Amino acid sequence: MNRGLQQYSRRDFVRVAAASAGALATGSLFLSACEPEAATTLAPGTAVGGPLMALVGRNALRIPPTVAPSGLVLTAQPDVADVGGGQIAGVWAYNGSFPAPTIRARTGDTATMQLQNGLGDPTTIHWHGMIVPWLMDGHPLNATQPGGSYAFQYPIVQRATMNWYHPHPHGLTGEQVCMGLAGAFIIEDDEEAALGLPSGAYEVPLIIRDADFDSQGNLKYTAKSSGFLGRVPLVNGVRDAGLEVDTTLYRLRILNGANARVFHLVLNNGAPFTLIGNDGGLLEAPVQVTQIDMSPAERVDVLVDFSGMQVGESVMLRSLGGGSNTFDLVEFVVARQVTGGGTVPSTLSTIPKLSPADVVTTRDFSFDGMTRINGQVYDLNRIDFQVPLGQTERWRFITGGNAPHPVHVHGEYFQVQSRTGGRGALFPWEAGWKDTVLLEDGETVEVLIRFDHHTGTYLMHCHKLEHEDMGMMLNFQVV
Ligand code: C2O
Ligand code: CU
Ligand code: CU
Repeated sequence: MNRGLQQYSRRDFVRVAAASAGALATGSLFLSACEPEAATTLAPGTAVGGPLMALVGRNALRIPPTVAPSGLVLTAQPDVADVGGGQIAGVWAYNGSFPAPTIRARTGDTATMQLQNGLGDPTTIHWHGMIVPWLMDGHPLNATQPGGSYAFQYPIVQRATMNWYHPHPHGLTGEQVCMGLAGAFIIEDDEEAALGLPSGAYEVPLIIRDADFDSQGNLKYTAKSSGFLGRVPLVNGVRDAGLEVDTTLYRLRILNGANARVFHLVLNNGAPFTLIGNDGGLLEAPVQVTQIDMSPAERVDVLVDFSGMQVGESVMLRSLGGGSNTFDLVEFVVARQVTGGGTVPSTLSTIPKLSPADVVTTRDFSFDGMTRINGQVYDLNRIDFQVPLGQTERWRFITGGNAPHPVHVHGEYFQVQSRTGGRGALFPWEAGWKDTVLLEDGETVEVLIRFDHHTGTYLMHCHKLEHEDMGMMLNFQVV
């Protein structure tokens, strides 16, 4: 079937084992803060500084470093990271950070970045959700060989949102993402800034995923055609994560960074999330929801209010799934009483609507089995169709089975119009601009899309990364 999928495991194991052994022998940065008698145990709270007395039984949530995208070099290579509780795991990381550094920029900035490939396989970086020229999009045709590099330069033309970046090499994406190569890419703009949303320590990116570990405690990837499902939830690369919070309003910017798992997010005290944004930025108005279903690559921007709570109380962000699929993700422990704090704006933004009346072309895409779209397996060099710039189109995503299929389109956002069959409804987090939408068994999801920015070759694929790697992907060309 797929070359990559058959060859991974043994080779990776060796590579990762070597990386962690090397780091332990030489005493890496990660270990320098340790107690001498516990060479593999980090002091509690190291990741965010200071002891965290309140986090009983939980590991301090890591907040990845924030970087600007100007002159940024991102080196992808095997490394080690504390995944919580002193477990030093072999991972693959950009610049030694697991998850990768959070890139932060503003609309109108120019990103100039370079990928250095320190892996043993080809890789690319795809800027998921970024509207960029196709040669900057990390298309697998433009993969960089081991030891090579790739220069990216593009203007940031879109509104504020939280995107992300991850590898996209042909047949190897699932492995490279699962081993740790992924980070957030936050764009700010004036419209969002004027809302005075919680910021600084009160704005928390949360990359949630599942993971498995080998007997040495290193991250382990097992390619599985139905999709990788790990047994251990990680939030920002940390298991059993906890965060000390103040009694105020927080902005949680959540990415489902899993290969294949759908998360069903709730707060365990029944409190609602105030949903303010998703893949493509702010919604028009806040909406309260008690559960959010997120498939891989989807993002939600939510406000959570801890102001009614007492110091010492806590609330768990949990994913419902039943039995061993119910995961406690991160516990928010109220540590400090503060006064004042944020308020929820009553309106957020105005979203121009694509109109069904403007549709010129309707296209159907059937997600077949685990490897095909419209009966065809991905071919790097085949262009399946052309879309004229500036033309509104209706795309219909259909599946007969093997869901979930999180359908993702590169190059432009779309607006979801309807879902029939299956769950038979749209959800509040599917309003506004989306780049990924969940297709469950028996569902037909209709979206409207109009490419307004760049010509070139872009991808559509299932973002269950094992389906993508096995061929549930196609090229189309904007002309
Ligand atoms: Cu996040 Cu083509 O992928
Ligand atoms: Cu993408
Ligand atoms: Cu799929």
